[in-house]
Amino acid sequence: MSDSKPVILTCAQPTGVLTIGNYLGAIKNWATMLDDYECFFGVVDLHAITVKYTPAELRKNTLSCVAQYIACGLDPERSNIFIQSHVIGHTELAWLLSCITPIGDLQRMTQFKEKAAKLGFKVADEEDANGLRFSHEGARAQASVNSGLLMYPVLMAADILLYNADAVPVGNDQRQHLELCRDLAQRFNHTYSDTFTIPEPFIPKAGARVMSLQSPDRKMSKSDENQNATLYILDDPKVLKKKIMSAVTDSGSEIVAREDKPGVSNLLQIYSAMSGREIAEIEDALQGKGYGDLKKEVADAVISVLEPVQARYHELIADKAYLESVLKSGAEAAQKRAYKVLGKVYRKAGFVERPR
Ligand code: TRP
Repeated sequence: MSDSKPVILTCAQPTGVLTIGNYLGAIKNWATMLDDYECFFGVVDLHAITVKYTPAELRKNTLSCVAQYIACGLDPERSNIFIQSHVIGHTELAWLLSCITPIGDLQRMTQFKEKAAKLGFKVADEEDANGLRFSHEGARAQASVNSGLLMYPVLMAADILLYNADAVPVGNDQRQHLELCRDLAQRFNHTYSDTFTIPEPFIPKAGARVMSLQSPDRKMSKSDENQNATLYILDDPKVLKKKIMSAVTDSGSEIVAREDKPGVSNLLQIYSAMSGREIAEIEDALQGKGYGDLKKEVADAVISVLEPVQARYHELIADKAYLESVLKSGAEAAQKRAYKVLGKVYRKAGFVERPR
Protein backbone atom coordinates (compact mmCIF):
# COMPACT_ATOMS: atom_id res chain seq x y z
CA MET A 1 0.00 0.00 0.00
CA SER A 2 1.48 3.33 -0.99
CA ASP A 3 1.68 6.18 1.48
CA SER A 4 0.69 8.75 -1.07
CA LYS A 5 -2.92 7.66 -1.24
CA PRO A 6 -5.34 9.75 0.78
CA VAL A 7 -6.58 8.10 3.94
CA ILE A 8 -10.17 7.06 4.56
CA LEU A 9 -11.27 6.06 7.99
CA THR A 10 -14.55 4.44 8.76
CA CYS A 11 -15.81 2.77 11.89
CA ALA A 12 -18.77 0.70 12.94
CA GLN A 13 -20.19 -0.16 16.30
CA PRO A 14 -20.27 -3.89 17.00
CA THR A 15 -24.04 -4.09 17.26
CA GLY A 16 -25.49 -7.41 16.19
CA VAL A 17 -26.15 -8.46 12.63
CA LEU A 18 -25.89 -6.20 9.57
CA THR A 19 -28.98 -5.55 7.48
CA ILE A 20 -29.12 -5.85 3.70
CA GLY A 21 -29.10 -2.04 3.67
CA ASN A 22 -25.69 -2.08 5.38
CA TYR A 23 -24.56 -4.77 2.96
CA LEU A 24 -25.60 -2.91 -0.18
CA GLY A 25 -24.18 0.38 1.06
CA ALA A 26 -20.92 -1.21 2.08
CA ILE A 27 -20.09 -3.22 -1.02
CA LYS A 28 -20.97 -0.32 -3.30
CA ASN A 29 -18.59 2.05 -1.60
CA TRP A 30 -15.74 -0.30 -0.89
CA ALA A 31 -15.22 -1.04 -4.54
CA THR A 32 -13.99 2.53 -5.10
CA MET A 33 -12.65 3.19 -1.61
CA LEU A 34 -10.22 0.29 -1.53
CA ASP A 35 -8.74 1.24 -4.90
CA ASP A 36 -8.35 4.96 -4.43
CA TYR A 37 -7.60 5.31 -0.71
CA GLU A 38 -5.59 3.80 2.07
CA CYS A 39 -8.44 2.48 4.22
CA PHE A 40 -8.67 2.06 7.94
CA PHE A 41 -11.70 0.25 9.20
CA GLY A 42 -12.30 0.20 12.95
CA VAL A 43 -14.75 -1.77 15.02
CA VAL A 44 -15.41 0.66 17.84
CA ASP A 45 -15.86 -1.41 20.96
CA LEU A 46 -15.05 1.52 23.25
CA HIS A 47 -18.09 3.36 21.88
CA ALA A 48 -20.26 0.32 22.53
CA ILE A 49 -19.95 0.60 26.30
CA THR A 50 -21.66 3.99 26.48
CA VAL A 51 -24.93 2.09 26.73
CA LYS A 52 -25.88 -0.86 28.89
CA TYR A 53 -24.15 -4.01 27.64
CA THR A 54 -22.95 -7.49 28.58
CA PRO A 55 -19.16 -8.13 28.41
CA ALA A 56 -19.49 -11.62 26.91
CA GLU A 57 -21.89 -10.34 24.26
CA LEU A 58 -19.63 -7.43 23.40
CA ARG A 59 -16.69 -9.76 22.84
CA LYS A 60 -18.78 -12.04 20.66
CA ASN A 61 -20.35 -9.18 18.72
CA THR A 62 -17.01 -7.54 18.07
CA LEU A 63 -15.54 -10.64 16.41
CA SER A 64 -18.80 -11.33 14.63
CA CYS A 65 -18.77 -7.78 13.28
CA VAL A 66 -15.27 -8.25 11.87
CA ALA A 67 -16.28 -11.55 10.24
CA GLN A 68 -19.46 -10.05 8.82
CA TYR A 69 -17.67 -7.16 7.17
CA ILE A 70 -15.05 -9.44 5.65
CA ALA A 71 -17.79 -11.80 4.46
CA CYS A 72 -19.53 -8.82 2.84
CA GLY A 73 -16.43 -8.10 0.81
CA LEU A 74 -14.22 -5.84 2.91
CA ASP A 75 -10.85 -7.16 1.77
CA PRO A 76 -8.31 -7.43 4.61
CA GLU A 77 -5.50 -7.54 2.05
CA ARG A 78 -6.38 -4.08 0.78
CA SER A 79 -7.51 -2.40 4.01
CA ASN A 80 -6.50 -2.19 7.65
CA ILE A 81 -9.18 -3.77 9.79
CA PHE A 82 -8.71 -3.23 13.49
CA ILE A 83 -10.48 -3.19 16.83
CA GLN A 84 -10.49 0.25 18.47
CA SER A 85 -9.41 -0.98 21.90
CA HIS A 86 -6.33 -2.63 20.33
CA VAL A 87 -4.84 0.70 19.34
CA ILE A 88 -3.33 2.99 21.93
CA GLY A 89 -4.23 6.58 21.27
CA HIS A 90 -8.00 6.71 20.80
CA THR A 91 -8.81 7.45 24.42
CA GLU A 92 -5.61 9.46 24.94
CA LEU A 93 -6.48 11.81 22.11
CA ALA A 94 -10.11 11.93 23.25
CA TRP A 95 -8.91 13.29 26.58
CA LEU A 96 -6.91 16.06 24.95
CA LEU A 97 -9.82 16.94 22.70
CA SER A 98 -12.25 16.95 25.60
CA CYS A 99 -10.19 19.74 27.12
CA ILE A 100 -11.03 21.98 24.15
CA THR A 101 -14.67 20.87 23.82
CA PRO A 102 -17.35 23.02 25.44
CA ILE A 103 -19.83 20.90 27.40
CA GLY A 104 -22.63 22.88 25.79
CA ASP A 105 -21.64 21.66 22.33
CA LEU A 106 -21.97 18.07 23.51
CA GLN A 107 -25.29 18.66 25.24
CA ARG A 108 -26.64 20.11 22.01
CA MET A 109 -25.82 16.99 19.94
CA THR A 110 -29.01 15.56 18.48
CA GLN A 111 -27.95 11.98 19.00
CA PHE A 112 -27.03 12.58 22.63
CA LYS A 113 -30.43 14.11 23.27
CA GLU A 114 -32.16 11.24 21.52
CA LYS A 115 -30.21 8.60 23.40
CA ALA A 116 -30.73 10.36 26.71
CA ALA A 117 -34.43 10.65 25.90
CA LYS A 118 -34.56 6.92 25.16
CA LEU A 119 -33.19 6.27 28.62
CA GLY A 120 -36.46 7.65 29.87
CA PHE A 121 -35.72 11.33 30.26
CA LYS A 122 -38.57 13.54 29.20
CA VAL A 123 -38.14 16.07 26.46
CA ALA A 124 -40.28 19.14 25.92
CA ASP A 125 -43.00 19.08 23.25
CA GLU A 126 -41.46 21.96 21.42
CA GLU A 127 -38.54 21.21 19.12
CA ASP A 128 -35.58 23.40 18.25
CA ALA A 129 -33.72 23.43 14.94
CA ASN A 130 -31.55 20.53 16.06
CA GLY A 131 -34.43 18.31 17.01
CA LEU A 132 -35.18 17.71 20.62
CA ARG A 133 -35.15 20.10 23.53
CA PHE A 134 -35.24 19.07 27.14
CA SER A 135 -37.80 20.43 29.55
CA HIS A 136 -36.46 21.71 32.88
CA GLU A 137 -37.33 18.41 34.41
CA GLY A 138 -35.63 16.65 31.51
CA ALA A 139 -32.52 18.78 31.82
CA ARG A 140 -32.17 17.83 35.46
CA ALA A 141 -32.64 14.14 34.66
CA GLN A 142 -30.07 14.48 31.89
CA ALA A 143 -27.48 15.22 34.53
CA SER A 144 -27.68 11.59 35.65
CA VAL A 145 -26.87 10.18 32.19
CA ASN A 146 -23.41 8.58 32.13
CA SER A 147 -20.77 11.01 30.94
CA GLY A 148 -19.43 8.54 28.37
CA LEU A 149 -22.63 9.04 26.40
CA LEU A 150 -21.99 12.77 26.43
CA MET A 151 -18.33 12.26 25.45
CA TYR A 152 -19.18 9.86 22.62
CA PRO A 153 -18.65 12.46 19.86
CA VAL A 154 -15.27 13.46 21.29
CA LEU A 155 -14.08 9.86 21.16
CA MET A 156 -15.37 9.67 17.61
CA ALA A 157 -13.44 12.83 16.73
CA ALA A 158 -10.34 11.21 18.22
CA ASP A 159 -10.90 8.07 16.08
CA ILE A 160 -10.77 10.23 13.00
CA LEU A 161 -8.04 12.71 13.90
CA LEU A 162 -5.72 10.02 15.28
CA TYR A 163 -5.19 8.86 11.70
CA ASN A 164 -5.20 12.31 10.13
CA ALA A 165 -7.93 10.95 7.90
CA ASP A 166 -8.65 12.90 4.73
CA ALA A 167 -12.15 11.58 4.36
CA VAL A 168 -14.78 9.83 6.44
CA PRO A 169 -17.82 8.10 4.97
CA VAL A 170 -20.73 9.01 7.19
CA GLY A 171 -24.46 8.69 6.93
CA ASN A 172 -26.77 11.56 7.71
CA ASP A 173 -27.11 10.56 11.34
CA GLN A 174 -23.36 11.11 11.87
CA ARG A 175 -22.95 14.41 10.04
CA GLN A 176 -23.26 16.52 13.16
CA HIS A 177 -20.56 14.44 14.84
CA LEU A 178 -18.24 14.94 11.88
CA GLU A 179 -18.90 18.68 12.02
CA LEU A 180 -17.83 18.69 15.67
CA CYS A 181 -14.72 16.74 14.73
CA ARG A 182 -13.83 19.35 12.10
CA ASP A 183 -14.41 22.16 14.62
CA LEU A 184 -12.15 20.47 17.15
CA ALA A 185 -9.41 19.90 14.59
CA GLN A 186 -9.56 23.55 13.60
CA ARG A 187 -9.54 24.70 17.20
CA PHE A 188 -6.55 22.51 18.02
CA ASN A 189 -4.65 23.70 14.92
CA HIS A 190 -5.45 27.28 15.80
CA THR A 191 -4.44 26.91 19.45
CA TYR A 192 -1.25 24.87 19.00
CA SER A 193 -0.32 25.30 15.30
CA ASP A 194 -1.12 23.11 12.33
CA THR A 195 -1.44 19.49 13.43
CA PHE A 196 -4.56 17.84 12.09
CA THR A 197 -5.93 17.32 8.61
CA ILE A 198 -9.50 18.65 8.50
CA PRO A 199 -11.50 15.57 7.46
CA GLU A 200 -14.03 15.84 4.64
CA PRO A 201 -17.23 13.83 4.55
CA PHE A 202 -16.89 11.12 1.92
CA ILE A 203 -20.12 11.19 0.00
CA PRO A 204 -20.74 7.70 -1.27
CA LYS A 205 -22.29 7.15 -4.66
CA ALA A 206 -26.02 7.17 -4.16
CA GLY A 207 -26.84 3.56 -3.43
CA ALA A 208 -30.13 1.82 -2.98
CA ARG A 209 -32.08 3.22 -0.08
CA VAL A 210 -33.58 0.14 1.46
CA MET A 211 -36.84 0.77 3.27
CA SER A 212 -38.69 -1.20 5.93
CA LEU A 213 -40.65 -4.14 4.50
CA GLN A 214 -43.52 -3.35 6.86
CA SER A 215 -43.63 0.47 6.66
CA PRO A 216 -41.89 1.40 3.40
CA ASP A 217 -41.95 5.09 4.32
CA ARG A 218 -39.20 4.39 6.87
CA LYS A 219 -35.62 3.24 6.39
CA MET A 220 -34.97 -0.44 7.09
CA SER A 221 -33.40 -0.45 10.52
CA LYS A 222 -31.82 -2.78 13.05
CA SER A 223 -33.83 -1.19 15.81
CA ASP A 224 -37.25 -1.74 14.22
CA GLU A 225 -39.64 -3.28 16.73
CA ASN A 226 -41.27 -5.31 14.00
CA GLN A 227 -38.60 -7.85 13.11
CA ASN A 228 -40.44 -8.77 9.91
CA ALA A 229 -39.51 -5.33 8.62
CA THR A 230 -35.78 -5.98 8.44
CA LEU A 231 -33.70 -8.43 6.42
CA TYR A 232 -30.46 -9.41 8.14
CA ILE A 233 -27.57 -10.78 6.17
CA LEU A 234 -27.38 -13.85 8.42
CA ASP A 235 -31.11 -14.64 8.37
CA ASP A 236 -31.84 -18.23 7.38
CA PRO A 237 -33.02 -18.38 3.74
CA LYS A 238 -36.40 -19.64 4.97
CA VAL A 239 -36.71 -16.60 7.21
CA LEU A 240 -35.65 -14.25 4.41
CA LYS A 241 -38.30 -15.73 2.17
CA LYS A 242 -40.99 -15.50 4.84
CA LYS A 243 -40.21 -11.86 5.57
CA ILE A 244 -40.19 -10.92 1.89
CA MET A 245 -43.42 -12.81 1.16
CA SER A 246 -45.14 -10.90 3.98
CA ALA A 247 -43.84 -7.48 2.89
CA VAL A 248 -46.43 -4.73 2.70
CA THR A 249 -47.48 -3.88 -0.87
CA ASP A 250 -49.73 -1.20 -2.31
CA SER A 251 -53.22 -1.01 -3.76
CA GLY A 252 -53.62 -1.96 -7.41
CA SER A 253 -51.67 -4.77 -8.99
CA GLU A 254 -49.24 -3.06 -11.35
CA ILE A 255 -45.57 -3.80 -10.73
CA VAL A 256 -43.98 -0.37 -11.17
CA ALA A 257 -41.67 1.83 -9.10
CA ARG A 258 -43.70 4.96 -8.46
CA GLU A 259 -44.13 7.42 -5.63
CA ASP A 260 -47.64 6.26 -4.83
CA LYS A 261 -46.35 2.68 -4.59
CA PRO A 262 -43.72 2.75 -1.84
CA GLY A 263 -43.98 -0.96 -0.99
CA VAL A 264 -43.61 -2.20 -4.55
CA SER A 265 -40.93 0.40 -5.28
CA ASN A 266 -38.91 -0.82 -2.32
CA LEU A 267 -39.14 -4.45 -3.46
CA LEU A 268 -38.04 -3.41 -6.94
CA GLN A 269 -35.12 -1.42 -5.49
CA ILE A 270 -33.98 -4.41 -3.46
CA TYR A 271 -34.37 -6.71 -6.45
CA SER A 272 -32.43 -4.36 -8.69
CA ALA A 273 -29.61 -3.80 -6.20
CA MET A 274 -29.27 -7.51 -5.48
CA SER A 275 -29.41 -8.68 -9.09
CA GLY A 276 -27.64 -5.77 -10.79
CA ARG A 277 -30.57 -5.50 -13.22
CA GLU A 278 -32.19 -2.16 -14.04
CA ILE A 279 -35.58 -1.49 -12.48
CA ALA A 280 -37.15 -0.76 -15.86
CA GLU A 281 -35.98 -4.11 -17.17
CA ILE A 282 -37.46 -5.90 -14.17
CA GLU A 283 -40.76 -4.04 -14.58
CA ASP A 284 -40.91 -5.15 -18.22
CA ALA A 285 -40.11 -8.74 -17.40
CA LEU A 286 -42.82 -8.87 -14.75
CA GLN A 287 -45.58 -7.28 -16.80
CA GLY A 288 -48.89 -9.02 -16.23
CA LYS A 289 -47.59 -10.86 -13.17
CA GLY A 290 -48.82 -10.35 -9.60
CA TYR A 291 -47.24 -9.12 -6.39
CA GLY A 292 -46.75 -12.73 -5.28
CA ASP A 293 -44.57 -13.43 -8.31
CA LEU A 294 -42.54 -10.28 -7.66
CA LYS A 295 -41.94 -11.29 -4.06
CA LYS A 296 -40.85 -14.79 -5.04
CA GLU A 297 -38.30 -13.36 -7.46
CA VAL A 298 -37.06 -10.82 -4.92
CA ALA A 299 -36.62 -13.61 -2.37
CA ASP A 300 -34.66 -15.71 -4.87
CA ALA A 301 -32.40 -12.77 -5.73
CA VAL A 302 -31.74 -11.89 -2.08
CA ILE A 303 -31.07 -15.50 -1.10
CA SER A 304 -28.71 -16.18 -4.00
CA VAL A 305 -26.61 -13.15 -3.03
CA LEU A 306 -26.63 -13.86 0.69
CA GLU A 307 -26.00 -17.60 0.61
CA PRO A 308 -22.31 -17.27 -0.29
CA VAL A 309 -21.95 -14.37 2.20
CA GLN A 310 -23.35 -16.59 4.94
CA ALA A 311 -21.13 -19.50 3.96
CA ARG A 312 -18.09 -17.23 4.09
CA TYR A 313 -19.19 -15.80 7.44
CA HIS A 314 -19.51 -19.25 9.01
CA GLU A 315 -16.11 -20.22 7.67
CA LEU A 316 -14.54 -17.06 9.10
CA ILE A 317 -16.17 -17.19 12.50
CA ALA A 318 -14.92 -20.77 12.91
CA ASP A 319 -11.36 -19.75 11.96
CA LYS A 320 -10.22 -17.77 14.95
CA ALA A 321 -6.57 -17.97 13.95
CA TYR A 322 -7.31 -16.26 10.65
CA LEU A 323 -9.41 -13.52 12.25
CA GLU A 324 -6.66 -12.92 14.77
CA SER A 325 -4.06 -12.61 12.04
CA VAL A 326 -6.21 -10.05 10.23
CA LEU A 327 -6.73 -8.08 13.43
CA LYS A 328 -3.05 -8.27 14.31
CA SER A 329 -1.83 -6.78 11.07
CA GLY A 330 -4.68 -4.27 11.08
CA ALA A 331 -3.82 -3.10 14.58
CA GLU A 332 -0.11 -2.92 13.72
CA ALA A 333 -0.71 -0.66 10.74
CA ALA A 334 -3.19 1.46 12.68
CA GLN A 335 -0.89 1.73 15.70
CA LYS A 336 2.03 2.83 13.58
CA ARG A 337 0.08 5.70 12.15
CA ALA A 338 -1.61 6.50 15.47
CA TYR A 339 1.68 6.75 17.37
CA LYS A 340 3.03 9.20 14.81
CA VAL A 341 0.06 11.51 15.16
CA LEU A 342 -0.20 11.12 18.93
CA GLY A 343 3.51 11.91 19.35
CA LYS A 344 3.10 15.09 17.36
CA VAL A 345 0.00 16.06 19.34
CA TYR A 346 1.76 15.50 22.68
CA ARG A 347 4.73 17.65 21.63
CA LYS A 348 2.47 20.46 20.47
CA ALA A 349 0.42 20.28 23.65
CA GLY A 350 3.57 20.83 25.71
CA PHE A 351 4.15 17.38 27.21
CA VAL A 352 7.72 16.43 28.03
CA GLU A 353 9.05 13.80 25.66
CA ARG A 354 9.26 10.33 27.16
CA PRO A 355 12.91 9.44 27.95
CA ARG A 356 14.18 6.72 25.61
N1 TRP B 1 -20.70 6.94 15.65
C1 TRP B 1 -20.57 6.08 14.51
C2 TRP B 1 -21.88 5.35 14.30
O1 TRP B 1 -22.61 5.10 15.22
C3 TRP B 1 -19.47 5.08 14.71
C4 TRP B 1 -18.13 5.72 14.75
C5 TRP B 1 -17.31 5.83 15.82
C6 TRP B 1 -17.45 6.31 13.64
N2 TRP B 1 -16.15 6.44 15.47
C7 TRP B 1 -16.19 6.76 14.15
C8 TRP B 1 -17.77 6.49 12.29
C9 TRP B 1 -15.28 7.39 13.32
C10 TRP B 1 -16.84 7.12 11.46
C11 TRP B 1 -15.60 7.57 11.99
O2 TRP B 1 -22.18 5.00 13.18
